[in-house]
Amino acid sequence: MTRTSHSVALPRVVSIADLRALAQRRVPRAVFDYLDGGAEGEVTLRENCRVYEDVAFRPRHAVAFADCSLCTSVLGIDLALPFMLAPVGYSRLMHPTGEVAAARAAGNAGTAYILSTISGHKLEDVKAASTGPVFYQLYLMGGRAAAEAAIERARLAGFSALVVTIDTPVSGIRERDYRNGIRELLSGSPVEKLRFLPQVLSRPAWLASFLLDGGLPALPNVVIPGQGPVPLVDVAAALAASAVTWSDLRWIRETWRGPIVVKGVLTGEDARRAVDEGAAAISVSNHGGRQLDCVPSPLRALPEVVKAVKGQTEILMDGGIRRGTDIVKALCLGAKAVLCGRAYAYGLAAAGEAGVNRAIEILRTDLDRTLRLLGCASVAELDRSYVNVPQSWDA
Ligand SMILES: Cc1cc2nc3c(=O)[nH]c(=O)nc-3n(C[C@H](O)[C@H](O)[C@H](O)COP(=O)(O)O)c2cc1C
Repeated sequence: MTRTSHSVALPRVVSIADLRALAQRRVPRAVFDYLDGGAEGEVTLRENCRVYEDVAFRPRHAVAFADCSLCTSVLGIDLALPFMLAPVGYSRLMHPTGEVAAARAAGNAGTAYILSTISGHKLEDVKAASTGPVFYQLYLMGGRAAAEAAIERARLAGFSALVVTIDTPVSGIRERDYRNGIRELLSGSPVEKLRFLPQVLSRPAWLASFLLDGGLPALPNVVIPGQGPVPLVDVAAALAASAVTWSDLRWIRETWRGPIVVKGVLTGEDARRAVDEGAAAISVSNHGGRQLDCVPSPLRALPEVVKAVKGQTEILMDGGIRRGTDIVKALCLGAKAVLCGRAYAYGLAAAGEAGVNRAIEILRTDLDRTLRLLGCASVAELDRSYVNVPQSWDA
């Protein structure tokens, strides 16, 4: 992986927005909307990105340093970058190499990849593809028996941590998916799939690679003992079968006996609860605006969570990150690192592994430039003194 090869592969891509535009041109509309869309009126989806505009930098000028450090650690694991790749279900729909490509790109960049339960590739293959740490995001699809089997496989394969997502008691209503008929695309009969013909035929490169890949398989990591992999279901049904409660979390902790990240915290109360339940880290998240609409953006929720946690666990966050400046703002407000979802998934949909590499490279160079412009030599030194936030955020 070199900088030159990225720029040759995708010469005119300078921002994540460019990758998004390329993705839109490469995959059928139903697939793009599944990736790009949010719940209900998409208020939260928009706010997740917009909120970074409320935070202004306070740069320190006339300082110079030779090197800028982007290194951090999460759960005691050293990372070369202060961002990781978030779990994105059905990544294989975006590109046949899906989760394997994303994990490899993350590893090559020295950061972690978080594999969704709703993966089209076997967790062992994903782990083997990466030279970096890989975490497993656990939903309780298929019940505790399937979860226990997945936990055991993840342990044997060498996954570093479990990420337990707590914000999916049911699926949020993603209106674009309903209108497009994502259920029929994923698991409909051949007749039901006919309606997608015009949009898939207009994306021949995607269609060819999808057909060569043999379509999406049954979920290889959701295996009910004695019954085999759970067949592909639509997204809403998958999430409805995935709810995790605090008592499930206790069971998961005892079964896994390793570090757990609780993902989907938006309030001080849930943050405290997660700490008390033994979370090694929490991710402040609203699932990228795909669950309950009109909840706070994660950046806006960070100060409340930081205050409640009192330094007793590591705080991560995800949502709306499209630029290195967004990451720096989150770190200034107390996140140890962030998770990027769509930022790299647009790259995956646009150009497979080369697209993920490009997304990572964009964010890395953004980060380096932002630190230098800010007059800060290391992400470890970032704190509130580098930003102005609206007064109401500290109330
Ligand atoms: C297409 C898509 C699928 C997702 N699938 C999962 C999933 O399977 N499990 C999970 O915990 N989060 C899932 N998420 C949420 C992401 O992990 C992350 O919280 C979110 O994408 C962050 O917002 P961002 O996309 O603006 O970076 C998904 C997000 C997207 C966009």
